[in-house]
Amino acid sequence: MIHNGIIENYSQLKKELTNLGYVFESDTDTEVLLNFIEEIKKNNNCGLEEAVRIALKRVTGAYVILLLDEENPDTIIAARKGSPLVIGVGKGEHFLGSDASPMLEYTKEVVYVNDYELAIIRPDELILKNLGNEKLTPYVQKLDLELAAIEKGGFDHFMLKEIFEQPQTIYDCLRGRLDAVAGTITMSGIQQYADQIVNANRIVMVACGTSWHAGLVAEYIFEELCRINVEVEYASEFRYRNPVIHKGDVIIAISQSGETADTLVAIENAKQKGAIILGVVNVVGSSIARTSHGGAYTHAGPEIGVASTKAFTAQLAVLTMIALKLGYLRGTISEERYRNLLTELEQIPEKVAWTLQQSEHIKALAEKYKDARDFLYLGRGYNFPVALEGALKLKEISYIHAEGYPAAEMKHGPIALVDDQLPVVFVATRDAYHEKVVSNMQEIKARKGIVISVITEGDSHSTDISDDVMIVPEADEILAPMLSVVPLQLLAYYIGVAKNLDVDKPRNLAKSVTVE
Ligand code: F6R
Repeated sequence: MIHNGIIENYSQLKKELTNLGYVFESDTDTEVLLNFIEEIKKNNNCGLEEAVRIALKRVTGAYVILLLDEENPDTIIAARKGSPLVIGVGKGEHFLGSDASPMLEYTKEVVYVNDYELAIIRPDELILKNLGNEKLTPYVQKLDLELAAIEKGGFDHFMLKEIFEQPQTIYDCLRGRLDAVAGTITMSGIQQYADQIVNANRIVMVACGTSWHAGLVAEYIFEELCRINVEVEYASEFRYRNPVIHKGDVIIAISQSGETADTLVAIENAKQKGAIILGVVNVVGSSIARTSHGGAYTHAGPEIGVASTKAFTAQLAVLTMIALKLGYLRGTISEERYRNLLTELEQIPEKVAWTLQQSEHIKALAEKYKDARDFLYLGRGYNFPVALEGALKLKEISYIHAEGYPAAEMKHGPIALVDDQLPVVFVATRDAYHEKVVSNMQEIKARKGIVISVITEGDSHSTDISDDVMIVPEADEILAPMLSVVPLQLLAYYIGVAKNLDVDKPRNLAKSVTVE
């Protein structure tokens, strides 16, 4: 048996089996489940398929299991609950995995298995059933992906390739949706819920990690453009907290993989309470995409580096378009600002391309600072979540301790850390808070800290105060995070490389967190 996930009631099952004389060689829930199935098979004098069906009715948790029986070595029995399972359909062969993209090399036809379904797979046969033993018709989907999308394409790492893809991925995300000349945004997956969203009292964004940071940026944007109350929740907290949800509340689930267990369960719970769920998801056909009522794909293409980069900027692009559309429909944004923002949004891909030209300079900064023990990342307003994201990227890729803070919070504690060894990264593009951020930089310099700033082109004042700068082009403050995050992604990447670490697969991390 191959098992991904957690069997929550395994200790109860283990007790029952131990009483029956079973002896365990490991502490794993996997061994318990396997023996439990074996016991049912013996007790009921039935085949493996029947035993799995009976066993799964008693099992709680989130899992995918694949079983091979030595009596029938050409048959795999597979089942899932809460964790993803994709079956690739080839010619006289099948492939099983948690993600479709690795199957591209072999087949473009896949079947997504749903919770409480059982698949019986033979080289030339795929049978799908529910736990009540009724046959279901497998829905075979065609993958709209090319093999090149999952290869490194001449880059040293997927992470670098994905950072450099951002001009294209943001463009792909806007394409067909944004028309700055006509002044329109078309998002068909949102359109049918437009009335409910326009009249909603609040919007709750639910996500984890980097996607949660995208939600935080979106909170600022929605509140500014749509004058609507927005809350951003860690999915892992939201799902357990018995949150107050009213019928018609709008929940936006943000997820690259579309398989993050906490986010998935959080929206399933909210859905049951009558909320409208919109997914901002990258992986087409993923569980979160399928569970959501509507939403918009981010179209960033497969993200293979474990640290999320291009998915983040694509999430920001989608969320900004939703906010612009909603602000327009609610009448909370002037025609002139709306039009200007559409035009500026259209220019973001080329501004990201401009920013990427500094990669050699940022590589040199990485060499200079790679031995620092800690980093502090500070920003205000739209750039505060970018500071959090910059710190997260550095932690993941370089294993250097890094903290992100709102710049003004510094004096309430973190400033005690500042000495001549501490690099402080300011996300300080020109915006309404700029003067205040510059004062914060001066406070760091006065305490002999090292100031590295992400600034807007032409900002000589910040350049004078900073020890080093990374420059982005001028942009409306609402759109600036899509630019200011790029140097921080590069800085984390190059520090990880300079430390000789496996940047595409940092230790202890998984690309999709399909268990809680
Ligand atoms: C950070 C990172 C994670 C993910 C988080 C949510 O680089 O990749 O923090 O953002 O696990 O994953 P998704 O977006 O797939 O739901």
